Amino acid sequence: MLKVNPDYLKLRGSYLFSTVARKVAASQAAHPDRQIIRLGIGDVTLPLTPTVVAAIHKAGDEMAHAETFRGYAPDLGYGFLREAAAAHDFKARGCDIAADEIFISDGAKSDSGNIQEIFSRDCRIAVCDPVYPVYLDSNVMGGRTGDFDEAKQQWSRVIYLPCTAANAFSPELPSEVPDLIYICSPNNPTGTAMKKERLQEWVDYANAHGSVIIFDAAYEAYISDPEVPHSIYECSGARTCAIEIRSFSKNAGFTGLRLGYTVVPKDLKDADGTALRDLWARRHGTKFNGAPYIQQRAGEAVYSEAGQTEIRGLVSYYMENARTIREGLAAAGYTAFGGIDSPYIWMQTPDGLSSWEFFDRLLEEASVVGTPGSGFGPSGEGYFRLTAFGTHENTKAAVERLQRL
Ligand code: MLT
Repeated sequence: MLKVNPDYLKLRGSYLFSTVARKVAASQAAHPDRQIIRLGIGDVTLPLTPTVVAAIHKAGDEMAHAETFRGYAPDLGYGFLREAAAAHDFKARGCDIAADEIFISDGAKSDSGNIQEIFSRDCRIAVCDPVYPVYLDSNVMGGRTGDFDEAKQQWSRVIYLPCTAANAFSPELPSEVPDLIYICSPNNPTGTAMKKERLQEWVDYANAHGSVIIFDAAYEAYISDPEVPHSIYECSGARTCAIEIRSFSKNAGFTGLRLGYTVVPKDLKDADGTALRDLWARRHGTKFNGAPYIQQRAGEAVYSEAGQTEIRGLVSYYMENARTIREGLAAAGYTAFGGIDSPYIWMQTPDGLSSWEFFDRLLEEASVVGTPGSGFGPSGEGYFRLTAFGTHENTKAAVERLQRL
């Protein structure tokens, strides 16, 4: 008799951003004249930069000629992109990461969801609360989370690391030792970032306890504070305990193009000495035929001098929005965090409203979309996330609507 994977049946409702999209579509259908401003999902609005577009055209042209046509890409990524990422993202920051420790993929979301596959089902995971839902949902799918406790709104086998205003949204080291620890800095959703000294404590903890940190650095381009590391490999000892996930979506606007990569250092091994790198490479070889050539050439262009200048322009455009949101919320008496080293602003909901109540009110009364904090975990209740990825015009209009609410 056919049966589906029972772990999938444990998933609760639809994926957070799908739920938000469905509610927004229903509201728009009910009120077709409303100009809804979307500051919900962290999707970029500026187009790809000229250097990237030129690289796409050139690579597309190459595909049209027999001599330069490319079929399957190497499953781990083209050397030109792995070398460029190693040089620019790591060597330039003094991090000891080689090109053959970098695995190119179709994006950080896939990698952060898939990486759990190489670990035993017995592994205990620790996640920040609130958390980017992919880490948790993919471990539910992997059968690692136990049962859901309705009262606590928590999975029984998961170690939650509360990130609240009381601890400045920086998780405490857990007393119960996890095997896998997910850390995202700059953080999605709280918009706060971990300083190097703090991250070093996590690296030391992981090495002392034989844990692995899965470090999501998708938002590193937004860091302005020199004390915040761009890579976990800036911390000493990270090669023996950390995997890092990178994205081209938020820095270079590849949300629709799809490109990312994961770093698994050769020194990272399980308790029996198995190199995690070999398992991740095996997974890529089996389940992935390589990110498309055109995308990888576009990614290479991001690392050129012109590409770097252009993406700095994208980042500063969005960070101007972050400032508009932060200052506008403060002027209207809201309490908000983040938005300094990150494109996310994490605001407290007003009038004691729950996150979803505020979502509904903002959508119905102001036609502005954000993301309910409770969708990211129980400690997100009473919070609401706004993104800085809109246009200047829409961002200003959304803030004015919030001020009038
Ligand atoms: C978010 O809004 O949290 C992100 O855009 C989702 C993602 O990157 O998958």
